[in-house]
Amino acid sequence: MILARDAAGFVKHGAQLVLEAAAAAYRDHGRFIFCLTGGSTPKKLYELLAEPYYKERIDWANTIVLFGDERCVPPTDDQSNYKMAKDALLSKVPLPEKNIFRMAGEMTPPSEGAKAYEQSLKALFKGYFPKIDLLLLGVGDDGHIASLFPNTEALKETEKWVVANRVEKLSSNRITLTLPVINNARRVLFLVSGEAKAGVIKEILRSDLPKTRFPAQLVATYEGEVTWLLDKAAMSKCPDELRHKAFHL
Ligand code: 6PG
Repeated sequence: MILARDAAGFVKHGAQLVLEAAAAAYRDHGRFIFCLTGGSTPKKLYELLAEPYYKERIDWANTIVLFGDERCVPPTDDQSNYKMAKDALLSKVPLPEKNIFRMAGEMTPPSEGAKAYEQSLKALFKGYFPKIDLLLLGVGDDGHIASLFPNTEALKETEKWVVANRVEKLSSNRITLTLPVINNARRVLFLVSGEAKAGVIKEILRSDLPKTRFPAQLVATYEGEVTWLLDKAAMSKCPDELRHKAFHL
């Protein structure tokens, strides 16, 4: 667990972790399969990755960009995770269009978009179970990850790689990777910042309660690494001993 003193440190270290994962992936198997998360937290990280120092240290021709989830809106909609990533990063780096695997949130019904994405992953991984090198996750204030919200059907999926998910509390449809795919990643990087997450982070990281109350607690990669990168505000309600245990930037 890494505790960043401030927003700048949070974003900088996140970018450093991306570079490390990319270098390891190129070394190990010649390409970097990088799965982006949506929401607002990662935007500054994506913008930093588009800056020369970081941009020049990623081999974009051998980088594949996936999405962990998508809202069921057109790719031009301000709600689209793809649009956020494209504006912040993808349009600013020499990443070949064919290397961007966008979830087609605009397809109806959403299950068709999920099926199409699963087909594209099957082609990418040549039928093998997806092994993502670095999978980014944010955490919602209800402990959701990707579009795996508490008490929703998608959380129970154990066979499919990608599913549509109805999120009643938001009156919205989503497309999301499932837990088996998330847990098969070589590395999951949680990015959590801000006071608004302090309450749920305190609950998620508690050791005295079963680790099954929140979707974020179900992320325990089969053989990979799970790294939590949090800022001080997000950890502000955690007990001192937990904050002291974190690696301080
Ligand atoms: C999405 C994300 C979602 C996000 C959390 C946290 O589509 O919204 O994939 O899982 O990571 O909701 O969002 P914030 O970073 O905006 O707090």
